[in-house]
Amino acid sequence: MKNFLWRAAASLAICTLILCFFSGRVHAEAAALTNDDCIKCHTEAPMDIEAQGGAHKTEVTCIDCHNGHPPNVQDIIPACSNCHSGKPHFELDNCLSCHSNPHAPLALKLAKDITGPCLTCHQSEGEQLKNNKSFHSSMACTACHQQHGQVPECLSCHEPHADDMVQADCKLCHQAHKPLVIAYGNDTPSKSCAACHEEAYSQLQASKTKHHDLACAKCHQKTHKMIPACQDCHGSPHPAAMMAKFPQCGQCHSTAHNLNRWEQKSGQGKKKK
Ligand code: HEC
Ligand code: HEC
Ligand code: HEC
Ligand code: HEC
Ligand code: HEC
Ligand code: HEC
Ligand code: HEC
Ligand code: HEC
Ligand code: HEC
Ligand code: HEC
Ligand code: HEC
Ligand code: HEC
Repeated sequence: MKNFLWRAAASLAICTLILCFFSGRVHAEAAALTNDDCIKCHTEAPMDIEAQGGAHKTEVTCIDCHNGHPPNVQDIIPACSNCHSGKPHFELDNCLSCHSNPHAPLALKLAKDITGPCLTCHQSEGEQLKNNKSFHSSMACTACHQQHGQVPECLSCHEPHADDMVQADCKLCHQAHKPLVIAYGNDTPSKSCAACHEEAYSQLQASKTKHHDLACAKCHQKTHKMIPACQDCHGSPHPAAMMAKFPQCGQCHSTAHNLNRWEQKSGQGKKKK
């Protein structure tokens, strides 16, 4: 930081006039102001820095930033750009709109409508929202992240699909920044599909075939609305000649949820085989 170079100069140069100006307690030849002097007249800034100064406590001192003092030096409020430059984040306007107290630089005050400035550090989240259009893409980042680093619960804004669904379940299928791209692992419990597919769920529950034990997500894998072919799992279980005559599995087996298990029926199928 080039301002470190100013520190020595600043300590020497701060004018004695200021002290005479205020109280007359100090003679005109009084020593230049040091960091220890500030607290004699200012309480708030030193207290803030002590409590929440962060790097502004450990890496710099008062006079690195405040070079001189009124009345002999008038403009002693530093520009942030004196020390911070070279990153997209430091090109933003009005640093103090978020870093409202430079003596507590990470005690942020975030308005409810901020998006662009977040992208100076979180480009990938911005791209996710932009590339996967949903209502969330039209919301400001801080509509959800009201404080920096805080993550909201979906249920603070939404109802669950079923009464027994909890916050942790949402993640099974949704990602916050692309909520309409529904994707899930094949260990997703069938109950969570049942919230919207009551009929498929109850059919499968009632089925006495081995499909009964398969989770929805074992067959409908990974992406919502995917429909598997019977052959994906079963290959070609029957002779080609038979399949030429009855090309659809469903002609004999009905549907996957309500499978027709042949042995329980008339035995006609066995003859065919
Ligand atoms: C003897 C009392 C006294 C001491 C010691 C003193 N200040 Fe001040 N300071 C004041 C007063 C009074 C004002 C208001 C002056 C004005 O507005 O013209 C002021 C104003 C300021 C301001 C605001 C300037 C502005 O442009 O708004 C800053 C920053 C500041 N002081 C920093 C410091 C720092 C840093 C130190 C220690 C190096 C220090 N002061 C030491 C009395 C003091
Ligand atoms: C990293 C730079 C930085 C450091 C370090 C710093 N200040 Fe400041 N200070 C500022 C800036 C920037 C402002 C203007 C804030 C504003 O405009 O709201 C300011 C404002 C002030 C003011 C006037 C407004 C107020 O809050 O009363 C005083 C007095 C002050 N500082 C004193 C100090 C003292 C004393 C220290 C050391 C204990 C100190 N500052 C350390 C950057 C700094
Ligand atoms: C005299 C130099 C100086 C000035 C002026 C200055 N800073 Fe800093 N600031 C530093 C240094 C040095 C660090 C620590 C290294 C770094 O993060 O770049 C720092 C760190 C920070 C941090 C991170 C704090 C932490 O604890 O990690 C923030 C936020 C910050 N500055 C904001 C500001 C803002 C906003 C302004 C203008 C109001 C400002 N700074 C003015 C020197 C300065
Ligand atoms: C829209 C709000 C906003 C504005 C405007 C803003 N910042 Fe930040 N800044 C943040 C957030 C959020 C962080 C991350 C804080 C954290 O990591 O805890 C941050 C972090 C920082 C840091 C520490 C991390 C780093 O990259 O070094 C510095 C320094 C900083 N800002 C300086 C500035 C400066 C200088 C400006 C003005 C040019 C500025 N900020 C404008 C919100 C803002
Ligand atoms: C100066 C850079 C910077 C800016 C600007 C910034 N952040 Fe961050 N943000 C960070 C860093 C660094 C972390 C900590 C990352 C980590 O620990 O993985 C973080 C963490 C987060 C987290 C929590 C991540 C987690 O894994 O829990 C969220 C949410 C977040 N930021 C949102 C935002 C929002 C919203 C904005 C705009 C208001 C913003 N950030 C602006 C640097 C920044
Ligand atoms: C609709 C609410 C919402 C909006 C809008 C939103 N987020 Fe998030 N964000 C979340 C939730 C919820 C999480 C936690 C995700 C999780 O736990 O899987 C999150 C996580 C994060 C994280 C942590 C890392 C990660 O990707 O999981 C960052 C960083 C983040 N968001 C930044 C942003 C930024 C930047 C924006 C604006 C461009 C934004 N968010 C917009 C709700 C939102
Ligand atoms: C701060 C409030 C808020 C949070 C937090 C939030 N959302 Fe939303 N979300 C909305 C609003 C507002 C809409 C649009 C109206 C609606 O569909 O309810 C929406 C819409 C949606 C949509 C439909 C999108 C579309 O374009 O039709 C899905 C899916 C969704 N949210 C899932 C989630 C999930 C999952 C989470 C948690 C990771 C979450 N939301 C967190 C506010 C929020
Ligand atoms: C098993 C997967 C799954 C789980 C778990 C899940 N969702 Fe969904 N969600 C979906 C599907 C699929 C849709 C889309 C339905 C459509 O296409 O209309 C959806 C749609 C939504 C919508 C858009 C509006 C609506 O109701 O159709 C919101 C909001 C939503 N989910 C929020 C949540 C929340 C909050 C949670 C956690 C409590 C959650 N979801 C858990 C699969 C899931
Ligand atoms: C939030 C409600 C919701 C949840 C939860 C949900 N779905 Fe759906 N699903 C729908 C809607 C709505 C449709 C579209 C229905 C239509 O087009 O007739 C659909 C369609 C489907 C289709 C395609 C139907 C067709 O005719 O093409 C399959 C397969 C499907 N869902 C499987 C699942 C599975 C597996 C789960 C659990 C991992 C699940 N769904 C969770 C609402 C949901
Ligand atoms: C994701 C893989 C998968 C798909 C897709 C699938 N099945 Fe199955 N099926 C299985 C498994 C696993 C079994 C149990 C095998 C075992 O335990 O020997 C099974 C068993 C069966 C059985 C024997 C049932 C019993 O109770 O003995 C029949 C008949 C059957 N499947 C037909 C079908 C038909 C017809 C389709 C398409 C409508 C289909 N399957 C789709 C995985 C699948
Ligand atoms: C053994 C694999 C398998 C299992 C387990 C399974 N499905 Fe299916 N599902 C299919 C196949 C194959 C189809 C296409 C229709 C057919 O040929 O049976 C289908 C069709 C669907 C459809 C669209 C048409 C319809 O019949 O409603 C929905 C929705 C659906 N399944 C949801 C579910 C849900 C929810 C579950 C869990 C309760 C589930 N599936 C379990 C294989 C399976
Ligand atoms: C013409 C009627 C018919 C058609 C069409 C048919 N099957 Fe079958 N399938 C049967 C009969 C009958 C059995 C019972 C054989 C047995 O119990 O040994 C059977 C048994 C099965 C079994 C269980 C085998 C075992 O070893 O337990 C599977 C899996 C199966 N079929 C899958 C399919 C698939 C996949 C298709 C479509 C490509 C299909 N079937 C088409 C009649 C048919």
